[in-house]
Amino acid sequence: MTDRYAVFGNPISHSKSPFIHAAFARQTGQDLTYEAILAPLDRFADSLESFRQQDGKGANVTVPFKENAYRIAGQLTDRAEKAGAVNTLTFANGQISGDNTDGAGLVNDIRSNLNFSIVGKRVLLMGAGGAARGVILPLLAETPANLTIANRTPGKADDLRKHFSRIETGSYQSLAGRQFDLIINATSSGLSDELPPLPDDIFAEGALAYDMMYGRETPFMMLARQHDAQVSDGLGMLVEQAAEAFFVWRGIRPLTAPVIAQIRR
Ligand code: ATR
Repeated sequence: MTDRYAVFGNPISHSKSPFIHAAFARQTGQDLTYEAILAPLDRFADSLESFRQQDGKGANVTVPFKENAYRIAGQLTDRAEKAGAVNTLTFANGQISGDNTDGAGLVNDIRSNLNFSIVGKRVLLMGAGGAARGVILPLLAETPANLTIANRTPGKADDLRKHFSRIETGSYQSLAGRQFDLIINATSSGLSDELPPLPDDIFAEGALAYDMMYGRETPFMMLARQHDAQVSDGLGMLVEQAAEAFFVWRGIRPLTAPVIAQIRR
């Protein structure tokens, strides 16, 4: 019998996940379907439960339901627990297990697709919302020289120190005079074409500037190009987090490069 999967979000019509998972299933010969489900803002739990009752085997969860999914899951992986959010649910043996593959997606894209090693590098993460928190543990696991988190509201970045050791936090102003090899934009500033107030000369020579947003050239990406940094949007992360979820569900790792190339075309 064909196994059913879905992504839940609101809005969801723009989601590329059905396309990505259909491509993975074809490539690996897995018998599954993957649909996009628009959950009402106040009815996520009901919507998810009805899918589970109708033989759903697992689900991805996107904005704004990742924290709801975290609360619904009966079991959590370490990376989901630390992220405080769940983007991958597995239904098996009457249980709901929660995982978070966003950070692995980011790290795999940087390491494997962009050929950039994080080991020993000075890393700056901008933002202290859900998107930032989701990637901290996998970034630390790559053993950077340091991981600094800057946020417009510095207190929110400081709060992250309750959950993670080995991070430094502060305001954008406090970065003055420092340089970083990898700068990741996990803020939503690009949505409104804004730029976090980075000091000048923040990009070290050979730096990689990574924006977790995709589908548009953000002011951060433009700034990074002006400073001769290598620049990437977050499309690779999107496909890699999907591949990691596919692996969680099916135990098989699909090839991601052809799918990334197909979407870029
Ligand atoms: P998400 O789940 O995408 O992380 P969020 O939890 O609302 O969304 O967090 C948005 C992040 O983007 C926050 O870190 C926010 O900074 P504040 O905590 O100070 O609000 C950051 N952000 C949004 N717009 C920004 C801007 N124009 N400049 C800098 N940071 C911005």
